[in-house]
Amino acid sequence: MKSIAVAAVAALAGAASARQCVNISVPVTITAQNGDFDVAAPTNDMEATNFFLDLTMPGQVYAEKIQRGMKTVSGNYSLGATYCEPDAGPSSVLQVLTHGVGADRSYWDLSYNDYNYSYVATAVDGYGFSTLAWDRLGLGASSRGDPVGEIQAPLEAAALGALTEKLRAGAVTGVCGRFDRVVHVGHSFGSVLTYALTAAAPGAGLSDGIALTGFSQDGSFFEAFALGAGFGPARDLAHLADYPAGWLASDRRGLQTAFLSRGMFDPALLALAYATQQPAAVGEMLTVSSAAAVVSRFAGPALIVTGARDIPFCGGNCLAAPANFSSIPQAALPPFLPHAKNPRAVIVPGAGHGLNLEYSHPFTYATINDYFVSNGLGPK
Ligand SMILES: *[C@@H]1O[C@H](CO)[C@@H](O)[C@H](O)[C@H]1NC(C)=O
Ligand SMILES: *[C@@H]1O[C@H](CO)[C@@H](O)[C@H](O)[C@H]1NC(C)=O
Ligand SMILES: *[C@@H]1O[C@H](CO)[C@@H](O)[C@H](O)[C@H]1NC(C)=O
Ligand SMILES: *[C@@H]1O[C@H](CO)[C@@H](O)[C@H](O)[C@H]1NC(C)=O
Repeated sequence: MKSIAVAAVAALAGAASARQCVNISVPVTITAQNGDFDVAAPTNDMEATNFFLDLTMPGQVYAEKIQRGMKTVSGNYSLGATYCEPDAGPSSVLQVLTHGVGADRSYWDLSYNDYNYSYVATAVDGYGFSTLAWDRLGLGASSRGDPVGEIQAPLEAAALGALTEKLRAGAVTGVCGRFDRVVHVGHSFGSVLTYALTAAAPGAGLSDGIALTGFSQDGSFFEAFALGAGFGPARDLAHLADYPAGWLASDRRGLQTAFLSRGMFDPALLALAYATQQPAAVGEMLTVSSAAAVVSRFAGPALIVTGARDIPFCGGNCLAAPANFSSIPQAALPPFLPHAKNPRAVIVPGAGHGLNLEYSHPFTYATINDYFVSNGLGPK
């Protein structure tokens, strides 16, 4: 494990407070029922394209078609994470932040433009929460794994569960003490994992409140994302050269299509997101749809925040809602989160899927943090 050095994050010019952050690694022992899929890891552009053409073909569920059965996966893994707390010391409430496809934990604390886009800066310096952002299994500083049989939604949800249990027990080295409340914020695939963890016992009891960003329960737009994101082998990008076959990354056009809405982003941020893009696993693509396709028993406050022009979860128009619903994300609430307290769906005007990268981020961040505060989950 890296030595732990508590260091003030780079000076926030003119800011009244500067959060204290530390990089840690958290060992977890986890077990999950993964899918056992009969599919080869794509080794080049053509094979990757063929995989997505199969995955998105209407009239069949490809993942079910190629599934031989279930496979128990167990292991000891290490999770790379960054814990931040206010200058004045640990908050009474911890937010656990889970990023989506294409990113790592830095999605929550972007240094771009003097940390102007940092969710963590808002949550910690602005509202007084503590935060813990982790790298999903398989990438960043977390343990690597087989991108077909191992790095799948069930194992990653188990990792989020084990991480949360340790945090609740005050058993994470580098994170001081216990918190009165632990809430979870996800983005995209990270929202799917958050939903999956809290949908059933015992995970439902591990969170006091959830905010699912870049999310809905309508799976009919996954094809638009999967075909539009321009996925090819991750190792074709120089900075991802050490990822083996089975790890995928987008081309620049695909990254924009999947994540960013017209007129809503600084072009330099697209360049940065592309240059620092993180890979996604074939096993994740095969399990993302089924992981959240269950009615949740979660009984705490639940918020969905999605950009009006989100591609993967709304097909580019969240306001094209089913009858009697105000938006596609809102339509998820009665059937899928029937026990949630004060469930709410908020649409970010004009925004695309990559909410933290867009000009609308102040609205997004205020929506999430205000929701926690107004539901009794604010820092004491
Ligand atoms: C944590 O690690 C990241 C790179 O992985 C680095 O940019 C950042 O400065 C580190 N933060 C601290 C507080 O050490
Ligand atoms: C995890 O590590 C412990 C202690 O080293 C070991 O006993 C156990 O067998 C390991 N578990 C797995 C699933 O590898
Ligand atoms: C919408 O609500 C109206 C009034 O309650 C009801 O008559 C109608 O059947 C509903 N439509 C659908 C598709 O549920
Ligand atoms: C921070 O971002 C917001 C929204 O993109 C923008 O309105 C504001 O001017 C930015 N502030 C600074 C200091 O760059």
